[in-house]
Amino acid sequence: MFLRCFLLIPVLVVFVSSSCPSSNTWKKNCYVFGTEKLGFSKAEVACIQKGGHLASIHDFFELDVIGQAAEFAYHSRTDYWIGAYKLGKTWQWTDKSNFSNFTDWARGEPQNIAEYGCAFMTYFNWDWKTENCANLKSYVCTVPI
Ligand SMILES: *[C@@H]1O[C@H](CO)[C@@H](O)[C@H](O)[C@H]1NC(C)=O
Ligand SMILES: *[C@@H]1O[C@H](CO)[C@@H](O)[C@H](O)[C@H]1NC(C)=O
Repeated sequence: MFLRCFLLIPVLVVFVSSSCPSSNTWKKNCYVFGTEKLGFSKAEVACIQKGGHLASIHDFFELDVIGQAAEFAYHSRTDYWIGAYKLGKTWQWTDKSNFSNFTDWARGEPQNIAEYGCAFMTYFNWDWKTENCANLKSYVCTVPI
């Protein structure tokens, strides 16, 4: 029984990682793009159902991996939610990772408008902008491999 479990685990790991394109992989995460358009909260729920969260981004390399993978995923001018949202006056990631390490806000962002409580990444230069969380958008999840 022990031997059987031992043998099954590597097979499962290979299966899971092969289901994520290597271009969408970084730091043991798979970036999964939602093609349907959802409000921010529903997009986060969809990411949780995939085993992750809306993507948090912690350095320029991760930003580049996501930005390039998005071009392949959407083949179009598509902006997409990332996991940044405003709780009170402070910005947070839905996966609760540290928001203070890295941001890539567009010039003039984040706008200090009460309803603009969620952030998306722009298709054209990967800058982040704020918008009403109820608006419908594509989204990117980070799912641990
Ligand atoms: C953010 O930086 C701190 C050190 O300044 C580090 O301990 C932490 O792991 C970093 N968090 C992320 C998510 O990179
Ligand atoms: C978050 O990152 C900032 C900046 O790197 C660091 O000063 C702070 O200690 C970190 N907080 C946690 C909880 O790791």
